[in-house]
Parts: sequence; structure tokens; C-alpha cells
Amino acid sequence: MAEDLTIIQGSKAEVYQSLIPQIKALLEGEPDLVANLGNISAALKEQFGWLWVGFYLVKPGSKSFGTAQDAETELVLGPFQGPVACTRIKKGRGVCGAAWQNAATLIVPDVEKFPGHIACSSLSRSEIVVPLIKNGEVIGVLDVDATELDQFDETDKKYLEEIVAILHL
Ligand code: SME
Repeated sequence: MAEDLTIIQGSKAEVYQSLIPQIKALLEGEPDLVANLGNISAALKEQFGWLWVGFYLVKPGSKSFGTAQDAETELVLGPFQGPVACTRIKKGRGVCGAAWQNAATLIVPDVEKFPGHIACSSLSRSEIVVPLIKNGEVIGVLDVDATELDQFDETDKKYLEEIVAILHL
């Protein structure tokens, strides 16, 4: 199978409509979640050139290591493309933690105006976070950051939600 991505110019919707079948082909027959999250991150980063594209996954919190207690969960950094990022985010914290808590996509036109935004990179200006939902529970999030203000809208929400649905979680 050819692994090259066809990058196109066009409206945002046209670009997503070209990319989505390619992402479906990349994920076809591959059950490994980490492999698929890696390829989605790379495909989005390559096509759109955003600052940061990647996933955080809900996992046991670091405080629960070595204890028998029912662990508090956190978002833990998963496959991504872009600058190094913070590794753990608690529920309700930052844009990612808020999208987790609300189980809903969050569009942030200006990260400086989002209370509690976690600045992994000082270059980030706007952000969109899409939850990954399995059996009604959030199991992770897709996080995308851009260097310009107001880069994400309902078109991104629609197509990024379509892309995470390809995962068949
Ligand atoms: N800005 C995010 C943190 C993750 S980084 O952007 C990669 C937030 O506020 O949740």
C-alpha cells in the first residue's frame, strides 16, 4: 500500500473531503490504536501545517502508581506531531480537560481568553479539542493548536469529529 499523502489546495471543506478517504485507507484493517492515532496526527499536520496535532488518552493518574486504590484518571500524552508538550492533564483543566469533562468539542478562537488554558507552546493562539467517545465515555481527545487566532470553526468541528469516528473505538 502506498503511504504517500496527496496534499491539495482548496477550501477547508474540500481539503477535508480529500483527506478523509485517505485517512480511511490508512486505517483500513489496522486495529492498533496507537498506530492509527499516529497516522491521523501525521496526516492532519502534513495537510494543514498546524502547530500541533495529537492525542491525549484517559489513563490512570500518576499518583495512583503502586497503590491499590481505584485510580483517579488523567489525560496522558499520546501520539502527536509538533513541539514537545505537557504529558498529563487533569479532568476539567485546560481546553483538553474541559472537552473531556463536557464530552463535547471545544473551539477556542483565542487561547489567552480561555480561563485555565494550558500553554504547552507560547506559539499557540487558537485551539480545537475533539473528544474520543467509546460506549458513551470519553477515552481521549484530539487536540489541534494553531499559531494564528481564530483558525477553527464549525467546518473543522464537523470533519475532525468525522475523522475520530473512523477509529471505530
Ligand atoms: N493547550 C492544551 C494543552 C495541550 S497542548 O496545547 C498540546 C489545553 O489547554 O488543554
